[in-house]
Amino acid sequence: MFDFDEVVDRKGTNCAKWDTIEANNKPKDVLPMWVADMDFKSPKEIENALVKRIRQGVYGYSFAPDEYFDAVISWMKRRHDFDIKKEWIVPTPGVVTAIKLCVNAYTKENDAIIINKPVYYPFDFSIELNHRRIIENEMVYKENSYEMDYVAFEKAIVENDVRMFILCNPYNPIGKVWKEDELKQIGEICKKHHVLVIVDEIHEDFVYGDHIHIPFYNVDESYKEFSVVLTAPSKTFNLAGLQTSNIIIADEKLRKAYQETMNRYGVNEPNFLGIIACMTAYNECELWVDEMLEYVYDNFTYFDEFLKENLPHIHLVKPEGLYLGWVDFRECGLNKDELEKTMLEKAGLWLDEGYIFGTGGEGFERFNLAIPRSVLEDACQRLLKAFGK
Ligand SMILES: Cc1ncc(COP(=O)(O)O)c(C=O)c1O
Repeated sequence: MFDFDEVVDRKGTNCAKWDTIEANNKPKDVLPMWVADMDFKSPKEIENALVKRIRQGVYGYSFAPDEYFDAVISWMKRRHDFDIKKEWIVPTPGVVTAIKLCVNAYTKENDAIIINKPVYYPFDFSIELNHRRIIENEMVYKENSYEMDYVAFEKAIVENDVRMFILCNPYNPIGKVWKEDELKQIGEICKKHHVLVIVDEIHEDFVYGDHIHIPFYNVDESYKEFSVVLTAPSKTFNLAGLQTSNIIIADEKLRKAYQETMNRYGVNEPNFLGIIACMTAYNECELWVDEMLEYVYDNFTYFDEFLKENLPHIHLVKPEGLYLGWVDFRECGLNKDELEKTMLEKAGLWLDEGYIFGTGGEGFERFNLAIPRSVLEDACQRLLKAFGK
Protein backbone atom coordinates (compact mmCIF):
# COMPACT_ATOMS: atom_id res chain seq x y z
CA MET A 1 0.00 0.00 0.00
CA PHE A 2 2.85 2.42 0.75
CA ASP A 3 5.57 2.92 -1.82
CA PHE A 4 8.90 2.21 -0.14
CA ASP A 5 10.38 1.46 -3.57
CA GLU A 6 10.25 5.15 -4.46
CA VAL A 7 13.74 6.62 -4.85
CA VAL A 8 13.53 10.07 -3.29
CA ASP A 9 16.09 12.63 -4.40
CA ARG A 10 17.35 14.06 -1.11
CA LYS A 11 20.17 16.08 -2.66
CA GLY A 12 20.02 19.83 -2.25
CA THR A 13 18.10 19.67 1.05
CA ASN A 14 21.07 20.17 3.42
CA CYS A 15 20.86 16.43 3.90
CA ALA A 16 23.61 15.04 6.17
CA LYS A 17 23.70 11.78 4.21
CA TRP A 18 23.61 12.95 0.60
CA ASP A 19 24.87 16.56 0.65
CA THR A 20 28.14 16.14 2.57
CA ILE A 21 30.00 13.75 0.27
CA GLU A 22 32.42 16.40 -1.00
CA ALA A 23 32.83 18.08 2.39
CA ASN A 24 33.86 14.71 3.83
CA ASN A 25 36.33 14.07 1.00
CA LYS A 26 34.51 10.97 -0.21
CA PRO A 27 34.63 9.92 -3.88
CA LYS A 28 31.90 11.84 -5.68
CA ASP A 29 29.92 8.87 -7.00
CA VAL A 30 29.88 7.10 -3.64
CA LEU A 31 26.60 5.62 -2.38
CA PRO A 32 26.06 6.83 1.20
CA MET A 33 24.66 4.19 3.56
CA TRP A 34 26.08 5.46 6.83
CA VAL A 35 23.99 7.83 8.97
CA ALA A 36 20.90 6.33 10.59
CA ASP A 37 18.02 8.01 8.86
CA MET A 38 15.81 6.49 6.21
CA ASP A 39 15.65 7.29 2.53
CA PHE A 40 11.86 6.80 2.75
CA LYS A 41 9.41 9.66 2.88
CA SER A 42 7.69 9.98 6.24
CA PRO A 43 3.97 9.14 6.28
CA LYS A 44 1.71 11.53 4.35
CA GLU A 45 -0.31 12.29 7.50
CA ILE A 46 2.77 13.89 9.05
CA GLU A 47 3.43 16.00 5.96
CA ASN A 48 -0.20 17.14 5.97
CA ALA A 49 -0.15 18.07 9.65
CA LEU A 50 3.12 20.01 9.28
CA VAL A 51 1.94 21.83 6.14
CA LYS A 52 -1.31 22.80 7.86
CA ARG A 53 0.60 24.27 10.79
CA ILE A 54 3.17 25.99 8.54
CA ARG A 55 0.38 27.59 6.48
CA GLN A 56 -0.99 29.29 9.59
CA GLY A 57 2.05 31.50 9.26
CA VAL A 58 3.02 32.35 12.85
CA TYR A 59 5.89 30.39 14.38
CA GLY A 60 6.12 31.79 17.90
CA TYR A 61 6.86 30.11 21.25
CA SER A 62 4.94 26.95 21.81
CA PHE A 63 4.34 24.19 24.35
CA ALA A 64 3.58 20.47 24.33
CA PRO A 65 -0.22 20.05 24.64
CA ASP A 66 -2.10 17.28 26.45
CA GLU A 67 -2.70 15.56 23.10
CA TYR A 68 1.06 15.09 22.72
CA PHE A 69 1.35 13.35 26.11
CA ASP A 70 -1.71 11.21 25.34
CA ALA A 71 -0.21 10.18 22.00
CA VAL A 72 3.09 9.10 23.60
CA ILE A 73 1.31 7.22 26.41
CA SER A 74 -0.97 5.43 23.97
CA TRP A 75 1.84 4.43 21.57
CA MET A 76 3.98 2.99 24.39
CA LYS A 77 1.02 1.00 25.71
CA ARG A 78 -0.16 -0.26 22.29
CA ARG A 79 3.21 -1.16 20.84
CA HIS A 80 5.25 -2.11 23.90
CA ASP A 81 2.83 -2.81 26.75
CA PHE A 82 4.61 0.02 28.51
CA ASP A 83 2.51 1.92 31.05
CA ILE A 84 3.72 5.44 31.58
CA LYS A 85 2.24 8.51 33.21
CA LYS A 86 1.95 11.98 31.73
CA GLU A 87 4.15 13.57 34.38
CA TRP A 88 7.00 11.15 33.62
CA ILE A 89 7.41 12.42 30.04
CA VAL A 90 9.88 15.22 29.39
CA PRO A 91 9.97 16.36 25.75
CA THR A 92 13.61 17.05 24.87
CA PRO A 93 15.40 18.11 21.67
CA GLY A 94 16.90 14.76 20.66
CA VAL A 95 18.09 11.61 22.38
CA VAL A 96 21.78 12.51 22.19
CA THR A 97 20.94 15.82 23.87
CA ALA A 98 19.12 13.82 26.54
CA ILE A 99 22.14 11.56 27.11
CA LYS A 100 24.36 14.61 27.59
CA LEU A 101 21.83 16.15 29.96
CA CYS A 102 21.74 12.92 31.99
CA VAL A 103 25.53 12.82 32.20
CA ASN A 104 25.48 16.38 33.54
CA ALA A 105 22.49 15.93 35.81
CA TYR A 106 23.56 12.71 37.52
CA THR A 107 27.37 12.58 37.53
CA LYS A 108 30.26 14.93 38.17
CA GLU A 109 33.61 15.48 36.45
CA ASN A 110 35.89 12.45 36.49
CA ASP A 111 33.10 10.05 37.46
CA ALA A 112 33.23 6.68 35.72
CA ILE A 113 30.49 5.76 33.23
CA ILE A 114 30.33 2.28 31.73
CA ILE A 115 29.21 1.41 28.19
CA ASN A 116 29.17 -1.80 26.18
CA LYS A 117 31.46 -2.08 23.19
CA PRO A 118 31.15 -1.77 20.28
CA VAL A 119 28.44 0.88 20.64
CA TYR A 120 26.82 3.94 19.03
CA TYR A 121 29.75 6.39 19.17
CA PRO A 122 27.90 9.46 20.55
CA PHE A 123 27.79 7.55 23.87
CA ASP A 124 31.58 8.02 24.00
CA PHE A 125 31.37 11.68 22.98
CA SER A 126 28.71 12.39 25.61
CA ILE A 127 31.02 11.08 28.31
CA GLU A 128 34.31 12.50 27.02
CA LEU A 129 33.04 15.99 26.19
CA ASN A 130 31.75 16.26 29.73
CA HIS A 131 35.08 15.15 31.21
CA ARG A 132 33.83 11.88 32.66
CA ARG A 133 35.74 8.60 32.36
CA ILE A 134 34.70 5.85 29.93
CA ILE A 135 34.77 2.30 31.24
CA GLU A 136 34.28 -0.33 28.54
CA ASN A 137 32.52 -3.67 28.72
CA GLU A 138 33.19 -5.60 25.53
CA MET A 139 30.40 -7.78 24.17
CA VAL A 140 31.19 -11.39 23.37
CA TYR A 141 30.57 -12.38 19.73
CA LYS A 142 29.71 -16.07 19.27
CA GLU A 143 27.93 -17.93 16.54
CA ASN A 144 26.50 -14.93 14.76
CA SER A 145 25.17 -13.17 17.86
CA TYR A 146 26.37 -11.18 20.85
CA GLU A 147 26.23 -11.85 24.56
CA MET A 148 27.20 -9.78 27.53
CA ASP A 149 29.88 -10.85 29.99
CA TYR A 150 28.10 -10.06 33.27
CA VAL A 151 31.04 -11.08 35.44
CA ALA A 152 33.35 -8.65 33.65
CA PHE A 153 30.62 -6.00 33.78
CA GLU A 154 30.21 -6.25 37.56
CA LYS A 155 33.97 -6.40 38.11
CA ALA A 156 34.48 -3.24 36.04
CA ILE A 157 31.75 -1.47 38.01
CA VAL A 158 33.28 -2.37 41.35
CA GLU A 159 36.90 -1.72 40.39
CA ASN A 160 36.18 1.67 38.83
CA ASP A 161 33.47 2.91 41.19
CA VAL A 162 31.14 3.31 38.21
CA ARG A 163 28.23 5.75 38.69
CA MET A 164 26.30 5.32 35.46
CA PHE A 165 25.63 2.78 32.69
CA ILE A 166 24.40 3.91 29.27
CA LEU A 167 22.55 0.96 27.77
CA CYS A 168 21.37 0.68 24.18
CA ASN A 169 18.09 -1.31 24.01
CA PRO A 170 17.76 -2.44 21.19
CA TYR A 171 21.45 -2.20 20.56
CA ASN A 172 23.08 -0.08 17.83
CA PRO A 173 25.18 -1.16 15.92
CA ILE A 174 25.07 -4.90 16.62
CA GLY A 175 21.31 -5.31 16.14
CA LYS A 176 20.74 -7.11 19.43
CA VAL A 177 17.32 -7.04 21.08
CA TRP A 178 17.90 -7.67 24.76
CA LYS A 179 15.88 -10.46 26.37
CA GLU A 180 14.13 -10.09 29.69
CA ASP A 181 16.56 -12.28 31.63
CA GLU A 182 19.50 -10.34 30.19
CA LEU A 183 17.98 -7.00 31.21
CA LYS A 184 17.27 -8.48 34.62
CA GLN A 185 20.92 -9.44 35.11
CA ILE A 186 21.98 -5.94 34.10
CA GLY A 187 19.35 -4.36 36.34
CA GLU A 188 20.25 -6.41 39.40
CA ILE A 189 23.98 -5.67 39.08
CA CYS A 190 23.29 -1.96 38.67
CA LYS A 191 20.84 -1.91 41.58
CA LYS A 192 23.32 -3.71 43.82
CA HIS A 193 26.10 -1.23 43.08
CA HIS A 194 23.97 1.95 42.91
CA VAL A 195 24.66 2.50 39.23
CA LEU A 196 22.16 4.74 37.46
CA VAL A 197 21.02 3.27 34.13
CA ILE A 198 20.33 5.51 31.15
CA VAL A 199 18.47 3.33 28.67
CA ASP A 200 18.45 4.50 25.05
CA GLU A 201 15.34 2.90 23.54
CA ILE A 202 15.23 4.97 20.34
CA HIS A 203 15.20 1.79 18.18
CA GLU A 204 12.33 0.24 20.19
CA ASP A 205 9.95 -0.12 17.24
CA PHE A 206 12.37 -2.13 15.09
CA VAL A 207 12.28 -5.76 16.17
CA TYR A 208 11.95 -8.86 14.02
CA GLY A 209 10.77 -12.45 14.22
CA ASP A 210 10.22 -13.72 17.75
CA HIS A 211 12.08 -10.83 19.29
CA ILE A 212 10.16 -8.30 21.34
CA HIS A 213 11.33 -5.02 22.69
CA ILE A 214 11.22 -4.99 26.48
CA PRO A 215 11.25 -1.53 28.03
CA PHE A 216 13.73 -1.50 30.91
CA TYR A 217 11.00 -0.26 33.29
CA ASN A 218 8.93 -3.37 32.55
CA VAL A 219 11.57 -5.77 33.83
CA ASP A 220 11.10 -4.90 37.49
CA GLU A 221 9.08 -2.21 39.24
CA SER A 222 12.11 -1.18 41.30
CA TYR A 223 14.09 -0.23 38.17
CA LYS A 224 12.07 2.98 37.92
CA GLU A 225 13.98 4.23 40.95
CA PHE A 226 17.39 4.20 39.25
CA SER A 227 16.85 4.54 35.54
CA VAL A 228 15.83 6.95 32.80
CA VAL A 229 14.37 5.77 29.48
CA LEU A 230 15.08 7.68 26.28
CA THR A 231 12.59 7.29 23.43
CA ALA A 232 11.78 9.21 20.26
CA PRO A 233 9.63 8.97 17.14
CA SER A 234 12.61 9.97 14.99
CA LYS A 235 13.96 6.56 13.91
CA THR A 236 10.53 4.99 13.40
CA PHE A 237 9.04 7.81 11.33
CA ASN A 238 12.21 9.39 9.89
CA LEU A 239 11.92 12.67 11.82
CA ALA A 240 15.50 13.21 13.02
CA GLY A 241 15.65 16.74 11.59
CA LEU A 242 12.80 17.79 13.88
CA GLN A 243 14.89 17.02 16.97
CA THR A 244 12.17 15.72 19.24
CA SER A 245 12.50 12.99 21.85
CA ASN A 246 10.26 11.73 24.63
CA ILE A 247 12.31 11.18 27.76
CA ILE A 248 10.63 9.05 30.42
CA ILE A 249 11.61 9.52 34.06
CA ALA A 250 9.36 7.93 36.67
CA ASP A 251 11.35 8.89 39.74
CA GLU A 252 10.49 12.40 40.85
CA LYS A 253 13.94 13.27 42.18
CA LEU A 254 15.65 12.07 39.03
CA ARG A 255 13.13 13.96 36.90
CA LYS A 256 13.63 17.20 38.81
CA ALA A 257 17.40 16.96 38.51
CA TYR A 258 17.05 16.36 34.75
CA GLN A 259 14.66 19.29 34.30
CA GLU A 260 16.91 21.60 36.28
CA THR A 261 19.80 20.64 34.01
CA MET A 262 17.65 21.27 30.92
CA ASN A 263 16.83 24.69 32.28
CA ARG A 264 20.46 25.43 33.05
CA TYR A 265 21.43 24.71 29.44
CA GLY A 266 18.35 26.40 27.98
CA VAL A 267 17.07 23.37 26.08
CA ASN A 268 13.66 23.12 27.72
CA GLU A 269 11.56 24.52 24.86
CA PRO A 270 10.17 21.89 22.51
CA ASN A 271 10.36 22.21 18.75
CA PHE A 272 6.72 22.99 17.86
CA LEU A 273 6.87 21.12 14.55
CA GLY A 274 8.46 18.11 16.23
CA ILE A 275 5.61 17.93 18.73
CA ILE A 276 3.03 18.02 15.91
CA ALA A 277 4.90 15.35 13.95
CA CYS A 278 5.19 13.14 17.04
CA MET A 279 1.48 13.38 17.86
CA THR A 280 0.47 12.66 14.27
CA ALA A 281 2.92 9.78 13.96
CA TYR A 282 1.76 8.02 17.11
CA ASN A 283 -1.95 8.67 16.49
CA GLU A 284 -2.33 8.14 12.76
CA CYS A 285 0.57 6.24 11.19
CA GLU A 286 0.62 2.75 12.67
CA LEU A 287 -0.16 0.98 9.41
CA TRP A 288 2.73 2.76 7.73
CA VAL A 289 5.09 1.49 10.46
CA ASP A 290 3.94 -2.11 10.07
CA GLU A 291 4.50 -2.05 6.31
CA MET A 292 7.81 -0.24 6.63
CA LEU A 293 9.06 -2.87 9.10
CA GLU A 294 8.14 -5.65 6.68
CA TYR A 295 9.92 -3.85 3.85
CA VAL A 296 13.07 -3.31 5.89
CA TYR A 297 13.07 -6.90 7.08
CA ASP A 298 12.75 -8.06 3.47
CA ASN A 299 15.80 -5.90 2.73
CA PHE A 300 17.70 -7.75 5.45
CA THR A 301 16.65 -11.07 3.90
CA TYR A 302 17.62 -9.96 0.40
CA PHE A 303 21.00 -8.73 1.66
CA ASP A 304 21.69 -11.87 3.68
CA GLU A 305 20.81 -14.16 0.77
CA PHE A 306 22.91 -12.10 -1.63
CA LEU A 307 25.94 -12.37 0.65
CA LYS A 308 25.48 -16.10 1.24
CA GLU A 309 25.18 -16.76 -2.47
CA ASN A 310 27.80 -14.39 -3.87
CA LEU A 311 30.15 -13.34 -1.08
CA PRO A 312 30.15 -16.20 1.43
CA HIS A 313 33.22 -14.82 3.22
CA ILE A 314 31.19 -11.76 4.30
CA HIS A 315 28.59 -12.33 7.01
CA LEU A 316 25.55 -10.36 8.09
CA VAL A 317 25.15 -10.65 11.87
CA LYS A 318 21.67 -12.03 12.45
CA PRO A 319 19.39 -9.00 12.71
CA GLU A 320 17.15 -9.06 15.77
CA GLY A 321 16.23 -5.40 15.50
CA LEU A 322 17.12 -1.97 14.01
CA TYR A 323 17.32 -1.02 10.33
CA LEU A 324 21.09 -1.17 10.45
CA GLY A 325 22.93 -4.24 9.21
CA TRP A 326 26.13 -5.17 11.08
CA VAL A 327 28.39 -7.03 8.72
CA ASP A 328 31.52 -9.04 9.44
CA PHE A 329 34.29 -8.53 6.84
CA ARG A 330 37.09 -10.07 8.90
CA GLU A 331 37.54 -13.06 6.61
CA CYS A 332 38.60 -10.61 3.87
CA GLY A 333 41.88 -10.25 5.75
CA LEU A 334 42.13 -6.46 5.42
CA ASN A 335 43.23 -4.12 8.17
CA LYS A 336 40.90 -1.27 9.08
CA ASP A 337 42.48 1.27 6.71
CA GLU A 338 42.52 -1.18 3.80
CA LEU A 339 38.90 -2.12 4.41
CA GLU A 340 37.80 1.52 4.54
CA LYS A 341 39.75 2.35 1.38
CA THR A 342 38.36 -0.66 -0.48
CA MET A 343 34.85 0.22 0.58
CA LEU A 344 35.14 3.82 -0.59
CA GLU A 345 37.33 3.49 -3.64
CA LYS A 346 36.56 0.04 -5.03
CA ALA A 347 32.99 -0.56 -3.88
CA GLY A 348 31.96 3.10 -3.88
CA LEU A 349 30.08 2.70 -0.61
CA TRP A 350 30.19 5.16 2.27
CA LEU A 351 29.39 3.22 5.42
CA ASP A 352 29.92 3.66 9.13
CA GLU A 353 33.19 1.79 9.62
CA GLY A 354 33.04 -0.74 12.44
CA TYR A 355 36.10 0.65 14.20
CA ILE A 356 34.37 3.96 14.95
CA PHE A 357 32.07 2.05 17.33
CA GLY A 358 35.15 1.17 19.36
CA THR A 359 36.59 -2.04 20.79
CA GLY A 360 35.32 -5.10 18.94
CA GLY A 361 34.12 -3.08 15.94
CA GLU A 362 37.18 -3.40 13.74
CA GLY A 363 36.60 -5.54 10.65
CA PHE A 364 32.84 -4.87 10.68
CA GLU A 365 30.80 -2.38 8.66
CA ARG A 366 27.39 -0.90 9.42
CA PHE A 367 24.94 -0.72 6.51
CA ASN A 368 21.80 1.41 6.63
CA LEU A 369 19.10 -0.80 5.10
CA ALA A 370 16.18 1.65 5.31
CA ILE A 371 16.50 2.24 1.60
CA PRO A 372 14.55 1.34 -1.55
CA ARG A 373 15.23 -2.20 -2.80
CA SER A 374 16.75 -0.93 -6.06
CA VAL A 375 19.35 1.04 -4.10
CA LEU A 376 20.15 -2.05 -2.05
CA GLU A 377 20.56 -4.04 -5.26
CA ASP A 378 23.00 -1.40 -6.50
CA ALA A 379 24.91 -1.60 -3.18
CA CYS A 380 25.13 -5.40 -3.48
CA GLN A 381 26.56 -5.16 -7.00
CA ARG A 382 29.12 -2.62 -5.77
CA LEU A 383 30.16 -5.04 -3.03
CA LEU A 384 30.46 -7.86 -5.52
CA LYS A 385 32.71 -5.78 -7.77
CA ALA A 386 35.05 -4.97 -4.89
CA PHE A 387 34.98 -8.15 -2.83
CA GLY A 388 34.08 -10.89 -5.33
CA LYS A 389 36.76 -13.52 -5.65
C1 LIG B 1 21.12 4.48 19.74
C2 LIG B 1 20.86 5.86 19.19
N1 LIG B 1 20.59 6.87 20.04
C3 LIG B 1 20.36 8.11 19.60
C4 LIG B 1 20.39 8.42 18.25
C5 LIG B 1 20.18 9.81 17.78
O1 LIG B 1 19.10 10.41 18.41
P1 LIG B 1 18.78 11.94 18.20
O2 LIG B 1 18.85 12.23 16.74
O3 LIG B 1 17.40 12.07 18.76
O4 LIG B 1 19.78 12.70 18.99
C6 LIG B 1 20.67 7.39 17.33
C7 LIG B 1 20.75 7.68 15.91
O5 LIG B 1 21.24 6.92 15.13
C8 LIG B 1 20.90 6.09 17.81
O6 LIG B 1 21.15 5.07 16.99
